[in-house]
Amino acid sequence: MTRSNRKTNNSVGINNDSLSKEEQKKELFKGFSRLTMAERFSRLVEMGALTQTDIKYLKSGGIKKTDLAEKFIENVIGYFQLPLGVATNFCIDGKRRVIPMAVEETSIIAAASKTARWVSEYGNIKTSIKGSGVIGQIQIAQVKDFENLKQVIQKNEKEWINRLHEEVVPSMYKRGGGIVGFKLRSLSEKMAVIHVVVDTRDAMGANIVNQVCEYLRTLIESATNEDVSVCIVSNLSDSCLVRAEVMMSGLDQELMQKIEQASLFAETDPYRAATSNKGVMNGIDAILIATGNDWRAVSAGVHAYSAREGRYQSITKWRVKAGKLYGFFEAPLMVGTVGGMTRLHPTAKMCLKMLGAKDAHSLARTCAAVGLVQNLGALRALTTVGIIEGHMKLHIQNLTLGAGAKGWEIPVIQKHLEIIFGFKNRISLSQAVEALRVLRKETANHIEVLKKIRDKHQQQALVALKGIKAKHKKWMDR
Ligand code: MEV
Repeated sequence: MTRSNRKTNNSVGINNDSLSKEEQKKELFKGFSRLTMAERFSRLVEMGALTQTDIKYLKSGGIKKTDLAEKFIENVIGYFQLPLGVATNFCIDGKRRVIPMAVEETSIIAAASKTARWVSEYGNIKTSIKGSGVIGQIQIAQVKDFENLKQVIQKNEKEWINRLHEEVVPSMYKRGGGIVGFKLRSLSEKMAVIHVVVDTRDAMGANIVNQVCEYLRTLIESATNEDVSVCIVSNLSDSCLVRAEVMMSGLDQELMQKIEQASLFAETDPYRAATSNKGVMNGIDAILIATGNDWRAVSAGVHAYSAREGRYQSITKWRVKAGKLYGFFEAPLMVGTVGGMTRLHPTAKMCLKMLGAKDAHSLARTCAAVGLVQNLGALRALTTVGIIEGHMKLHIQNLTLGAGAKGWEIPVIQKHLEIIFGFKNRISLSQAVEALRVLRKETANHIEVLKKIRDKHQQQALVALKGIKAKHKKWMDR
C-alpha cells in the first residue's frame, strides 16, 4: 500500500490525510508511553525518525564489535550499555522533534514528555544563539612585559590569523569557520592569558582549538620575550550563548506563583541551585550521550556559567508577568554534529538523524529547550504533588527487580509495594526484599502442591500416551 492511497497509514489507525506534517507528528506522539516497543518502532518509522535498518540494529542490541571502541579509548574490554528512549511532544521553534535520550534514571523521559505536552498546550518554546566560537586559552604564568605583549599581539593579529587559516584550520576556514579574534587578559600582576576565539562550525572544537593554541605558542614565544605555560580550550566558552525561552498562558495563577517562588529559591541559594541545575542537565546530558557528545564539557560550561556573577545560581529563571509564565535558559553549550563519536558510533549517528539536528547550533538549541522543559517539569512536580509521586511507578518496578523477584512474583510484589507506599508515602529496597521473602515462604508449600499435581498429571499423560502408542503399534502390525 502506498502512502497516498491509505486512509490510515500506521499501526494505531491515525487518519493522516488532512493533517500537516507537524500535526501528524503530534498525533503520532499520542499515547506513545502506553505502546509496546514494536508499536513505538512503527510510529517512529511513520514519523520518518527511524528506518527499518535502524530498527533491525536496535533490536539486535546495537553496537557489539569492539574495533570502534579501540579507536577511542585505551584498555578496552567491551561496551557499557545505557537505556535509550525517546522524549515525545516537543515542539521547538514550531517544529515537532523526537528527542533521543540515553539515561539510567527513572522518570526523566516521562517528565520531559509530559511537560513538553503541557507547554505545547499552553504556549511555546523558542530558542536562539548569540555570538559564535569556542575559546582557547594561552597562559603566560610569569609575564615580563604586559604592554609589549599587548602591542605584539595587536600588530601581528591579522598575519597570525591568516597563517592559522592556511596552516592549521584550512578546511574549517573553507567551510566558513576559522579564527574570530584574540583578546589579552591580565589575571594578576604576574599572570596574563590570551583568549583565541575559533569558529569551529559543526565540530565541538576542543581538539582543533588546542591545536590552534599550540601553534600560536611558537609564534608568541618567538615574537616576544615571554614563555607560554599552558595551552587549552576553555569549557566556559561564553563567546557563544544558547538561549531557550518558554512562554505559557492560561495557567492557574497560584501554580505560576509557586513556580516563580521555586525559581527564586534556586536563583538565591547555591544548595538548591545545584539540584535545580542537575535537573536541567538530566535533559541535556541524556541527549549529549545519545548523540556521542562530550557531556562533561557541556556540564562544566553550564555550571561555570551559573557562577558567572560570583555566586553559584540556577541556570534557569521563571517569572510571572501579566498572567503569563515565562521561563529562560542561557548558557554556553559546546556540542558537535561532526567529529568525535558523533558520526562514527552507529547509535549516535542514528540519534542525530532521529533528532533532525542539521548542524551543531540546531543540536545546541534543542538541548537548551529540553533542559528548560525538564526544569519546568521538576518545578511543577515539586510545587504540587512532590517529586516522590512521579518517580514511584518505575521506582517500585526497580525495587521489585532489585529485590530479586522473578516471573509471577513481580506483579505481586509491585502491588504490595504500591499499597505500602499508599499508606506510608515512602518505600525502600529492604521492604521489597522482606515482602519477597514472606511471599516465597508462604507460597512454597502451595508451589510444592501444584508441582505434585503437575507431575501426577504428567505421569498419567505419559501412561496414557504409552497405551495409545502400544495400541497403535498393534494395529499397524496386523
Ligand atoms: C532529580 O534527578 C532532579 C530534581 O531533583 C531536579 C530539581 O530538584 O529541580 C527533581
